[in-house]
Amino acid sequence: MADASDERLWWQRVVVYQVYPRSFQDSDGDGVGDLRGIISRLSYLEWLGVDAVWISPFYPSPMADFGYDITDHTDVHPMFGTLSDFDAFVAEAHRRDIKVILDYVPNHTSDEHPWFVESRSSRENPKRDWYIWQDPAPDGGSPNNWQSVFGGGAWEWDAATQQYYYHAYLREQPDLNWRNPEVREAMMEVLRFWLQRGVDGFRVDALRQLLKDEHLRDNPPNPDHRARSPYDALLPVYSTDRPKVHEAVREMRSVLEDYGDRLLIGELYLPIDRLVTYYGENNSGVHLPFNFHLISTPWNAREIATLIHTYEAALPRGGWPTWVLGNHDRSRITSRVGAAQARVAAMLLLTLRGTPTVYYGDELGMHDVEIPPERVQDPFEKNVPGRGLGRDPARTPMQWDASPNAGICPPDVEPWLPVADDYRTYNVATEREDPASMLNLHRRLLALRRSEPALALGSYEPVETTGDLLAYVRERDGRRFLIVLNLKHNPTTFEGPEIRGRLVLSTHLDRGGERVNGGIGLRGDEGVIVEQG
Ligand code: GLC
Ligand code: MG
Repeated sequence: MADASDERLWWQRVVVYQVYPRSFQDSDGDGVGDLRGIISRLSYLEWLGVDAVWISPFYPSPMADFGYDITDHTDVHPMFGTLSDFDAFVAEAHRRDIKVILDYVPNHTSDEHPWFVESRSSRENPKRDWYIWQDPAPDGGSPNNWQSVFGGGAWEWDAATQQYYYHAYLREQPDLNWRNPEVREAMMEVLRFWLQRGVDGFRVDALRQLLKDEHLRDNPPNPDHRARSPYDALLPVYSTDRPKVHEAVREMRSVLEDYGDRLLIGELYLPIDRLVTYYGENNSGVHLPFNFHLISTPWNAREIATLIHTYEAALPRGGWPTWVLGNHDRSRITSRVGAAQARVAAMLLLTLRGTPTVYYGDELGMHDVEIPPERVQDPFEKNVPGRGLGRDPARTPMQWDASPNAGICPPDVEPWLPVADDYRTYNVATEREDPASMLNLHRRLLALRRSEPALALGSYEPVETTGDLLAYVRERDGRRFLIVLNLKHNPTTFEGPEIRGRLVLSTHLDRGGERVNGGIGLRGDEGVIVEQG
């Protein structure tokens, strides 16, 4: 694998931007975003300075899980447009040098997928074995104790054929049987279909669930179960992260290899030592196993310094790091750490070594929106209500401007989820005009990262700090940048010989050009980038 002086691959240089298509931009006045809407906003993404877009599913779906329950992996839901809209989207994105990454959902289909309709029609159907069917336990109950991620048991009884089928998520999302070679081949064809249409990569959904224990052994209880989600009552040792998942990943990877330089990202909620195994032996796995640890690690300098260190040290040879602050399944960063500290988080995300992914709206400082009970959409919230597990709050409409509905759809249409109350302050149009806005901070960080390969590709060296400060140096070809982040609200000072040079960017966007020598004063919630020398 390349060392620091070699040219890196495109996906090592890019910043990925995640679009949740229902909430980005509506073009046809139904209150739900669509592909034409995304096309109309590509100029914004280009202006912002991101180089790759990952779009959550837009495939035909009954929408039990808002598109993660698919009835046809190789088409577009009419609500989102048509295949020719998709082609137009790819062409328009590529014209702007923006790569296109799709969501690939191999673990399950919708229960309305023709494959499952056949599979459940009889025990003799040739597609019976495409899903995971089991006889009842001797007592007539579920085959084992596995739980669904979204609450309740993971086995659904089918009275007609007198067997259970397995669903890691909703009962409307039966799991495919990846031990069946026909299933594997059919799902490889899905990859080829989109690769031929020009997509640059995939984010693989629910990858850790793909293969299950062949003996379907019971999962053990979780000793430190904090009971937030019923799923967490057990350790999913037999239902996730099984050795055979790696074989399936290798197969996906080899399909991609036939098409040149394409990218495979894996959705993998796993501890670091397990996560890094997904780079695969000799880099035959996913290129980027999504690293979600900034979402789960307590937000303080010591824990985050340890996290970065542990992760960097665990990376296999040639394994490229990747970082994420949020996505469509988790509470937004602004709500987790507060608006002021979210600016520091942005500086962290965009100056760490590795490929970052920005969740739509985080660049505006969008926060979780409280959803009135009658407007709840997410099945997770409906199944396990009132525990803050619902994902609607982080999926609300993108805030484009101060007009009604924040510009996501026509003023007289109700968007599928409510718009945040403060959208008149936090939106693209308003923030563009404010030189100190969160949006302009993102734009500046993205521009700096693009113009300074040290930030995108350079080495990472931790700098020793105490208290609430986090500091590190990024370096490449003799250009060195010191990043110092104050993870608390109180002002502080950082002193040391490495602090010499020119301050190029502060999270407050007001100190560019300042000379520093031997020490820097930092305001509360301030981060700075210093060009050393
Ligand atoms: C992934 C997706 C999530 C979805 C689930 C089932 O975790 O990110 O949104 O509900 O898989 O497909
Ligand atoms: Mg629409």
